[in-house]
Amino acid sequence: MSSQSVLLIGAGGYIGRAVAQEFLSQKSKFARVAILADLPKVGKFAEISSEGMEVVVGNFLEPNSFKGFTIVICMLGNHAMKHQPAIIDVAISAGVTNFYPSEFGSDISQGAYLSNRYFRDKQITREHLTKAAEHHKGFGYTLMVTGSFAEYAAHPAFGVDPDQGTFDFFGPKEKKEPFTGILDIAKYVVASVLMLESKFETENPCRTFRIPTATYSWEEVIETLSRVQGKKYTCTYHQTSEAHALAKKYASEGDVDRELGYSLKAIIGGPNEEGVPKPWDHDKFPDINPESLELSLRRYFGKQEQ
Ligand SMILES: NC(=O)c1ccc[n+]([C@@H]2O[C@H](COP(=O)([O-])OP(=O)(O)OC[C@H]3O[C@@H](n4cnc5c(N)ncnc54)[C@H](OP(=O)(O)O)[C@@H]3O)[C@@H](O)[C@H]2O)c1
Repeated sequence: MSSQSVLLIGAGGYIGRAVAQEFLSQKSKFARVAILADLPKVGKFAEISSEGMEVVVGNFLEPNSFKGFTIVICMLGNHAMKHQPAIIDVAISAGVTNFYPSEFGSDISQGAYLSNRYFRDKQITREHLTKAAEHHKGFGYTLMVTGSFAEYAAHPAFGVDPDQGTFDFFGPKEKKEPFTGILDIAKYVVASVLMLESKFETENPCRTFRIPTATYSWEEVIETLSRVQGKKYTCTYHQTSEAHALAKKYASEGDVDRELGYSLKAIIGGPNEEGVPKPWDHDKFPDINPESLELSLRRYFGKQEQ
């Protein structure tokens, strides 16, 4: 059994729910696993709590919320992730030794990801973690670089309207995107925490796991969606520069959500950008056999039988 005690933040979110379920199913391997929830949000976790998950009631800016935990896995969404630097400081003060920031996406240490507006809060958090690890001996952090969620291949954020059967993309159809299904991401997260028992894993304060399952061109993604849904798609391919212009326009109008949305579309469509450059780290997880994009999408659309 691992000596680690794991606290999950943002466990009610898109990736958070999958990660919480996986920890619940492997709970016996850890000293303790719990979800942190503000008092008004506790009801959200009634079902998983009835299945055996501990729920700690408290705020993520209070040291008491973190007392007794060694690992924090933060899965806050776009709006709340700006709180992470403060959360990290509070967690360290309470004795947390490893922090997983809300990453779960592209490798933002390279290319236009370094300056793209969409990733600003993630960059600020990474900088904060680097400094925190310099100042606090024994503190480290873990970056889960997953590529896009396979289930998001059917999401409007990426230009897909699965009901209408349309795809609106700001780049060439040959542009490739790395994907991982959320159930597999959850397995990688749990396995990566179990690895913290090994001394080798804690020598470097920053651990990075690059774990996309595979890359697909957007043309292949739409063909896959079309096959899974049994639906013909109408595709419109714009210049990437149009997404950049729209991001700029919405920034000047103070519309942060649209600014972020088009910043993301611009980088996903950008012909010269690569979401997660190789090498990848699958060899570190020999027991995980990730599902293909098609399998993830069949599960998502409830069409496993076909
Ligand atoms: N690679 C990809 O394709 C992809 C796709 C989506 C997300 N992501 C990444 O995954 C991470 C998580 O995103 P997500 O979409 O899963 O998040 P999400 O669904 O928006 O969930 C965010 C979670 O944070 C909680 N939260 C929000 N504001 C809070 C606050 N002030 N105090 C406490 N809790 C708060 C939410 O709880 P309430 O709902 O109760 O407020 C929810 O549980 C992010 O880093 C995101 O960039 C990656």
